[in-house]
Amino acid sequence: MIKPLVVANWKLNPRTLKEAKTLFSGIKKNASRLKNIEAVVCPSFPHLIPLAQSYRGSKVKFGTQDIFYERSGPFTGEVSPDMLTDAGTDYVIVGHSERRDLGEKNELVAHKLHAGIRSEIKTILCVGERERDADGLFLSFIKEQIESALRGAPKRYVGNIIIAYEPLWAIGKTDNEAITPHDLHQMTLYIRKVVAGVLSRKTADETPILYGGSVERGNAQSLMEEGEVNGFLVGHASLEPNEFGAILKIVDKAVNKK
Ligand code: PGA
Repeated sequence: MIKPLVVANWKLNPRTLKEAKTLFSGIKKNASRLKNIEAVVCPSFPHLIPLAQSYRGSKVKFGTQDIFYERSGPFTGEVSPDMLTDAGTDYVIVGHSERRDLGEKNELVAHKLHAGIRSEIKTILCVGERERDADGLFLSFIKEQIESALRGAPKRYVGNIIIAYEPLWAIGKTDNEAITPHDLHQMTLYIRKVVAGVLSRKTADETPILYGGSVERGNAQSLMEEGEVNGFLVGHASLEPNEFGAILKIVDKAVNKK
């Protein structure tokens, strides 16, 4: 069974390290009694380092919101996989739609995914359509996002891949504007089929699939149970320790029921 995973994507928040510390300790407290799931926080780079130092060995793991694909050299402004693991990162997000909006193309996302997994970092590949069309063309868009990233992925390391399905139309809204559990279930089946086509059925079955896009305490349970995902990538709700804590508890309970 895949261990459920709930990842906090703090994006460009909060403004100060002091606030980040308060937020993290609130989340850590809420996560302290959870047994069945893995909780991960992805702060900004400047906040990651002091947080990871203060909370080394903590139950709540750390991730980053981006990575670069080279290990060293003349790449001004970039951060390498080795630097991230050295700083205490176990997870990284690649290809988030907000980065794709800043110009990241499938090819660059593929390089980042391959570099992340090769460095034994659990690498979360984000995919998702901007909008849905009645003819289902959005499915081929998602297929291409997944296939282009997985093609050529070093076989030995594919166990480090996590896929986050995040439809852009559902990001940053409220729980009743998110995807329905039924539609999410269709998507998880579809994504596994696409992964099986590029890698193998076994890898497809073993790859965690997360959902992101307005996950809140009001929809977490139904999305988890009926959507058949392995967890969530949470944006705005992860900036409120109690809201995020409630989501963690719901996921932890959903696992207990199985
Ligand atoms: P949201 O963001 O939970 O605020 O919709 C999710 C994401 O962009 O990862």
